[in-house]
Amino acid sequence: MSKDKLIIFDTTLRDGEQSPGASMTADEKVRIAKALEQMRVDVIEAGFPIASNGDFEAVKAVAKVIKDSTVCALARAKQIDIDRAGEAIKPANSGRIHTFIATSPIHMSQKLRLSPDQVLEQAVAAVRMAKKYTTDIEFSPEDAGRSDPDFLCRVIEAVIREGATTINIPDTVGYNIPYQFGALIKDLLERVPNAEKAIFSVHCHNDLGLAVANSLSAVLNGARQVECTINGLGERAGNAALEEIVMAVRTRQDVFNCDTNLDTTQIMNCSRLVSGITGFAVQPNKAIVGANAFAHESGIHQDGVLKSRETYEIMRAQDVGLSTNKIVLGKHSGRNAFKTRMAELNIAFDSEKELNEVFANFKTLADKKHEIFDEDLQALVTETNTVQMNESIKLVSLSVCSETGETPNARITLNVDGEEKQAQAKGSGPVDASFQAIEKITNSGVELQLYSVNNITTGTDSQGEVTVRLQLNGSIFNGHGADTDIVIASTKAYVNGLNKIIANQKRTHPQMGGL
Ligand code: KIV
Ligand code: ZN
Repeated sequence: MSKDKLIIFDTTLRDGEQSPGASMTADEKVRIAKALEQMRVDVIEAGFPIASNGDFEAVKAVAKVIKDSTVCALARAKQIDIDRAGEAIKPANSGRIHTFIATSPIHMSQKLRLSPDQVLEQAVAAVRMAKKYTTDIEFSPEDAGRSDPDFLCRVIEAVIREGATTINIPDTVGYNIPYQFGALIKDLLERVPNAEKAIFSVHCHNDLGLAVANSLSAVLNGARQVECTINGLGERAGNAALEEIVMAVRTRQDVFNCDTNLDTTQIMNCSRLVSGITGFAVQPNKAIVGANAFAHESGIHQDGVLKSRETYEIMRAQDVGLSTNKIVLGKHSGRNAFKTRMAELNIAFDSEKELNEVFANFKTLADKKHEIFDEDLQALVTETNTVQMNESIKLVSLSVCSETGETPNARITLNVDGEEKQAQAKGSGPVDASFQAIEKITNSGVELQLYSVNNITTGTDSQGEVTVRLQLNGSIFNGHGADTDIVIASTKAYVNGLNKIIANQKRTHPQMGGL
């Protein structure tokens, strides 16, 4: 018996971007979208065009380059949102508008200040407006997980009658429990009279750590689209992790009556790309993509795996695209070898200029670090793009003095909008001294909320990848930088965070305020 298709709707570029500090530039979004397309994701939610001009342009840029996946834009159930979303997806081969309005008693009365009948009317009107731009229309009753099922049935029936082709049921606040959420999906599919005219989808948040379990329970009860993000990125505790959903369904085909069309060997690539661009490191014990996910520490396990892999492994590392960390290039590698390996990693360059810049950075790195791994190459591209895009402040030079018994001292030269400025500062360590010196020049007044260093590969010559979280006037920005010298990597990260603050525009949050 042939199985149903489970549609994978990735919202890394929209809900994922709503993680505090995870905002991405249009170029970064295009890079991630290309990797998602390469992985054969069915629908890519590229952003919320009404949020800002930057968001609008980013969705449009994704819609222009993506050919094989559907490109989706989010819109509140509001004329200006829908018009903006419709314009942004115009260049797409296949474009979708995803419109939503809250249906839970608390959201309707406290946030929207609308009666249930007004909400229903607005939901139907939104679908009608979206029809002007596309026939592929998704509707979400926001906070469905806390909504009255009878009211949900009324709204869903009405929007399907108006032309909605996908009905997405969000557990917006991550409140549901798997058996309950599965039962809700079953109930809706049975009770909505025209349910067979739409695909039912789910969108689960991870506040109780149940996003993946709830999504899978929904799939077992008839949902045929799952909304998810790479590495589980997303608002608050995040969304359901794409890699966990896809591998659970693929690995347990004895349980699921459906499968995805994904090329799972692209999972590691996407995971590294998203973590590199956002600066959100993946915890080592994270399922599927964590550094330890396929590592066997205990002697008993190692013995078992050597005798027969299946004793302790339920998936093959190569099926998720885990590289064996083999050396791929070194300082004698030429431009052709470099270009070929980049192509194998699905990293394409938009111009010769970009290729030349990354290649020049590769040569500099290869002089410092003799063995260049895939992870180094991915970090190089992220690093080069980061520097290219945020040019208000540039690191010109840094000299730090750190000695036992002495207070560390840093001397820094920055180029600020074309003008070179120097400062010197002491600190509790070389990183602290460098940050103090930057502050002497920029006077940004940011608060450093998080500082983390991860090694990109193994060994003491590995590049350190640094993430800083900076807070200014209630807004949070993540900066990241990579270098074999972690003090320089830290300084690059801090400068990158400051540049993001400078480039930031005021954006509207999709779930903020009334209509
Ligand atoms: O969590 C949520 O409810 C959302 C909607 C916009 C679908 O992100
Ligand atoms: Zn969400």
